[in-house]
Amino acid sequence: MEISAKKRILSGIQPTGTFTLGNYIGAVRNWGLLQQEYDCIYMIANMHAITVRQNPADLRRQSREAAALLLACGIDPQKSIVFVQSHVPAHAELSWVLSCNTQFGELSRMTQFKDKSARHADNVNAGLFTYPVLMAADILVYNADLVPVGADQKQHLELARNIASRFNNAYSDTFTVPEPYIPKTGARIMSLQEPDKKMSKSDTNVNSFILMLDEPDAIRRKFKRAVTDSEGAVYASEEKPGVTNLMSIYSVFTGKSFEEIQREFEGKGYGEFKDAVAQSVIDVFSPIQNEYRRILADKNYLDGVLKAGAEQASRIANKTCAKVYKKVGFLQL
Ligand code: TYM
Repeated sequence: MEISAKKRILSGIQPTGTFTLGNYIGAVRNWGLLQQEYDCIYMIANMHAITVRQNPADLRRQSREAAALLLACGIDPQKSIVFVQSHVPAHAELSWVLSCNTQFGELSRMTQFKDKSARHADNVNAGLFTYPVLMAADILVYNADLVPVGADQKQHLELARNIASRFNNAYSDTFTVPEPYIPKTGARIMSLQEPDKKMSKSDTNVNSFILMLDEPDAIRRKFKRAVTDSEGAVYASEEKPGVTNLMSIYSVFTGKSFEEIQREFEGKGYGEFKDAVAQSVIDVFSPIQNEYRRILADKNYLDGVLKAGAEQASRIANKTCAKVYKKVGFLQL
């Protein structure tokens, strides 16, 4: 990728398992769409993944699988940089400097830290606490203008903005202050079983999430079991979180507005509606699944993409890091 006048995008995803429908709608789908208009950098966040204990062999395998799935979703390595976070040491290097410009109180307020430390009470490690600083480094090291994420990452983005502004004020203009890019529909896809909770692959109930590699039968079955309400009418409302969630999914995959969906299913039951939602998901995921299997089978190609991606990313990141090291007074020889 050459230096251009286009604005820059950075985003990342953890390789902790197959992506969910929520990952796809909230983030990855948009990553593909934004490639035409922006210079995009997309990262497999394997360093973030170890804030929770991982099996090393699984993490290694899943990092390749995550890369294959991103490419299958339409991320084009000719247009965008795709790489694995640990292949670019500048992230960790910048993270240290930024952590010395972040307050303990700021990190204590992060809701994801509070949630995750409650869920993994036996392993509340320092990395889990300082994770948002590493995420700020991921973004700021590329001077990204825009960060496409789901709503759950908004607070981390706010922190990255605050850290950037604070550093710029203390050491002169250095970082671009990044803007979040959060989709209007589908910023927070909810659990199919408990629609007041975010859909998450770490949920213990497998019926609560759709994975991008789920077979069509599993997708149909999970939607059939999705929790709705007893009213039997398809319209969006705060009192109908289950139905509203299904409408968001259907809207994203068919391009139909909520009004159109309401009209389409007027007088029809939830059974028919759920089948249609399932089919819209299958229609999008089936070709991606085929492409995923094809790409994953070609390990040389995949590793070549990641190697080239790491080199391109390093060139940009090292420059920012060198500038920062100089500004904070680290001796240069
Ligand atoms: P992660 O791996 O948890 O999720 C990846 C992306 O998917 C979005 N997402 C959702 N969107 C809508 N509905 C849902 N149910 C849902 N679940 C997940 C997330 O918002 C995210 O955009 N910290 C990040 C990874 C990261 C990163 C970064 C992101 C590391 N460095 C720098 C942006 C910039 C994370 O854990 O995402």
